[in-house]
Amino acid sequence: MTQDELKKMVAKAALEYVEVGTIVGVGTGSTANHFIDYLAGIKHKIDGTVASSEASAERLRSHGIPVLDLNEVDDISVYVDGADEATRHRHLIKGGGGALTREKIVAAVARRFVCIADETKLVDVLGAFPLPLEVIPMARSYIAREMVKLGGRPQWREGFVTDNGNHILDVHNLQITDPVALESELNQYAGMVTVGIFARRPADVLLLGTREGVKTI
Ligand code: A5P
Repeated sequence: MTQDELKKMVAKAALEYVEVGTIVGVGTGSTANHFIDYLAGIKHKIDGTVASSEASAERLRSHGIPVLDLNEVDDISVYVDGADEATRHRHLIKGGGGALTREKIVAAVARRFVCIADETKLVDVLGAFPLPLEVIPMARSYIAREMVKLGGRPQWREGFVTDNGNHILDVHNLQITDPVALESELNQYAGMVTVGIFARRPADVLLLGTREGVKTI
C-alpha cells in the first residue's frame, strides 16, 4: 500500500465520527483533502462545514458542500484534520501546510478532534519534523533569535504568506519532550501568533492508517 492509499483509508474511516445534522470542522492538507472527497458522499446528512483554510474551503465548495463563517456557528461536533507528527498521547505537530492558526481555532471550538494520519506520522518524541510557528512579520527575526537561544535552528519559509497575512518559521533541531510546557512557553513571545504544537488541546482520537488496517489511539 502506498502512503496515499493509507491516507485515503484513514480519511474514509473518519466518516464514522461525523454526526448527522451538525456542523463539521474540516482541516487542511492531503489527508484532509481525501476526507473532503469522502464527505461529499454524505453531504446531505450534515448542516455544513467550517474550513481551516481557504484551500479547503474552495475544495468543499467545489463539491457543493456549504462552508460557514466560524462566527456564525456556535457548535462544531467534530473536527477532522491531519498532522505532520503524532504521539501515542495524541500530541501533534501541525502546520506543514501553513494553516496552523485556523486549525488551532477550529480544534478549540470542536467538541471532538479526530486526527487522521498514515503510520509514518507516528513518533515517540515530537520534533524531527521542523516545528512551524506563525509569526507577525515584524517579529520574525526577533522570534528566530529567541529560538536559537533555545537550541533550535529556525528557517524562514520565504515567499509564503499565511491566510492571515503572516510569516512562518520552521524550527529544526528541537526535541520536544514536554509538548504541553513548550507550547505554553512559546505562546508567550511577543509577535507569536500560533505555535504548531497541538498538545494543550490534543486530538481526542488518533486514527492511524497502517498496512494492517486503521488503528484507533
Ligand atoms: C496543515 O497546515 C497541516 O497541519 C496538515 O494537517 C499537515 O501538514 C498534514 O498534511 P498531510 O495530510 O498532507 O500529510
